[in-house]
Amino acid sequence: MEKKKIWTVKDVLDWTVRYLTEKGLPSPRQDVEYMLSFVLNTSRLNLYMQLDRPMNNKELNLFKTLVKRRLKREPLQYITGIAYLWKYEFLVEKGVFIPRRETETLIEVALTALKGTEGTVADVGTGTGCVLLSLLKETPLFTGIGVDISPKALAVFKKNAYRLKLSGRAFPIKGNCLSFVKNESLEAVISNPPYIKSDELDSLQEEISLYEPKEALDGGRDGLFFIRRLVKEAYRVLKKGGFFATEVGHGQAEAVRFLFRQTGFKKVESHKDLSGIERVVSGWKL
Ligand SMILES: C[S@@+](CC[C@H](N)C(=O)[O-])C[C@H]1O[C@@H](n2cnc3c(N)ncnc32)[C@H](O)[C@@H]1O
Repeated sequence: MEKKKIWTVKDVLDWTVRYLTEKGLPSPRQDVEYMLSFVLNTSRLNLYMQLDRPMNNKELNLFKTLVKRRLKREPLQYITGIAYLWKYEFLVEKGVFIPRRETETLIEVALTALKGTEGTVADVGTGTGCVLLSLLKETPLFTGIGVDISPKALAVFKKNAYRLKLSGRAFPIKGNCLSFVKNESLEAVISNPPYIKSDELDSLQEEISLYEPKEALDGGRDGLFFIRRLVKEAYRVLKKGGFFATEVGHGQAEAVRFLFRQTGFKKVESHKDLSGIERVVSGWKL
């Protein structure tokens, strides 16, 4: 009788990288490393310290279900339930926008403006809370309001605030933009709003178009529908001396700087992300 094959971590890693490559997935090695680390409850680095470790049936079966989901182009972060941004790990689930690396520019810009000061900051369209919570970690005198129209996002926000020990300073609010805020009551407003043009939504990669929530992405006909409203509302709710920064899409910065100035913001600036794209526009209500 043929002896049953023993699958080591290395066998599984090599076989699955080959398989996902054949199937045309964009970053097969990274996908497999993350899924294997998830199944074995270890770090990606540690995987390479246990390449000879045999995998048992339970681990192999769980791994197979993850691979099947990835083959249907489900984003890795929904499969593992985890996304990384700035210095932290955030829980994420289907129906909630996955944090993107380029959003670290918004965190950096807000930190530079607010570090060492105090007050209340609202994060409009907070999603997992990744921007607000990263900011609050490094601005201990700030209180944060995470606003979102999606109850699902707010439930995830709460869990992330708890995990980062920020529940006492980070409050979720279900709201439509800033309509619930009284005039001139905040020191800062930050946002990574929906800014993709509606007619571009279906042509995005399948990971996004099939799985991520449309309301997190759709910026209307020209992509600026939400930002136009946000700029006006931010100006209305900020105290004198208040700071506002919003992420923008590729090619939108110039139009958004114009909107900022037209509304009354001063010291209006754009900030580039690591790819050299103008990714954030900021200004002050002086
Ligand atoms: C691009 S996602 C950003 C999520 C998170 N801030 C991040 O950077 O990962 C935009 C978020 O705005 C929320 N949103 C959309 N329309 C909204 C509205 N009218 N009022 C408040 N939030 C809204 C969506 O639910 C989504 O969570």
